[in-house]
Amino acid sequence: MSSVYLDNAATTYPKPEQVYREMDRFMREVGGSAGRSAHNRALDTGRMVYETRGALAELFKIPDPLRIAFTKNATESLNIAILGLLKPGDHVVTSSMEHNSVMRPLEAARAAGISYSTVQCEPDGRLDPAALEKEIRPETALIVLTHASNVTGTIMPVAEVSAIAHERGVPILVDAAQTAGRLQIDIDAQGIDILAFTGHKELFGPQGVGGIFLREGITLRPLMYGGTGSHSTLLEQPREMPDALESGTLNAFGIAGLAAGVGFVSAEGIEAIREHEVELLERVLEGLERIQGITDYGPRDARDRVGIVPLTFDRLSPVDAARMLDEQYGIACRAGLHCAPAAHETIGTIESGALRVGFSYLNTAEEVDYLLECLSEITR
Ligand code: ALA
Repeated sequence: MSSVYLDNAATTYPKPEQVYREMDRFMREVGGSAGRSAHNRALDTGRMVYETRGALAELFKIPDPLRIAFTKNATESLNIAILGLLKPGDHVVTSSMEHNSVMRPLEAARAAGISYSTVQCEPDGRLDPAALEKEIRPETALIVLTHASNVTGTIMPVAEVSAIAHERGVPILVDAAQTAGRLQIDIDAQGIDILAFTGHKELFGPQGVGGIFLREGITLRPLMYGGTGSHSTLLEQPREMPDALESGTLNAFGIAGLAAGVGFVSAEGIEAIREHEVELLERVLEGLERIQGITDYGPRDARDRVGIVPLTFDRLSPVDAARMLDEQYGIACRAGLHCAPAAHETIGTIESGALRVGFSYLNTAEEVDYLLECLSEITR
């Protein structure tokens, strides 16, 4: 095989053909700015944006699509939620598997008198909801939890945690960067109050587009203020969603690509996407057991994780292994700490980092077999 892309946890590649086609068509044939004028290009763009919100709402089972605002990625959505909701004196509970897109805004918020507790997860990344419950205090104003770790793929017990949170009157913010498009997200069944997602991973959109969902009744201070194409005589930022969080010209080209990606995911169906992922995971986990000199991390059961597998080597650094896979075999993976040092502390790879293999729905069993063959060779 000449080239195998397994860095899908960073960004998916390739995209389904219709994503490339739709972005090209939209840029050439439509190309207006949504909500800013009454000519056809602006109206057609506005319609496309409206329909994309609707498609995302359907995918995540959100009753009102207008509760979704477009952002540039999950990081922006997480910043909006964390910095826009909390006030001095508030406390947050989070897990030791979070990405820096959660940890850095939380750390920055300390300067404003906000504190946080981090619940220690198991060495395979699993979170005990009872351990999280013990950290909730009277001043706890938010729980932040990843839906699945970007380091181990471990799926978190979102529904159990949200039930505990709601009993104590605390909202939950879920980071779905790694799960939107590959695990079922159901806002009501899982009790999600705020959802942060990106478009360029398993939703198969381009980079530069993501979103945030806010449950009815939750209002946030925006991070950005500006033109929304609505209430233009008012100096104050409109409070209603999505305008409250959508200042400035939208990334309509990105949203057009995302629409095609979401269309692909919805047509394939989350169940089929998940089945394929579990098959690839089982194949790679079984194959790794037969190779000497490699340690893999994360849950043993493929059903407890998404298609992400971190590896370390007895006689190679993860960076050297990534370089060998890339240069000698044409396999692209990511080595290092994956912007989630606390997760690496949790699994015991903070010193070495890990080589991360990340599958998308477009990877095949043959590619997994090729990876296993190449791993056998580089460890020999
Ligand atoms: N958060 C992405 C990753 O884990 C970029 O690689």
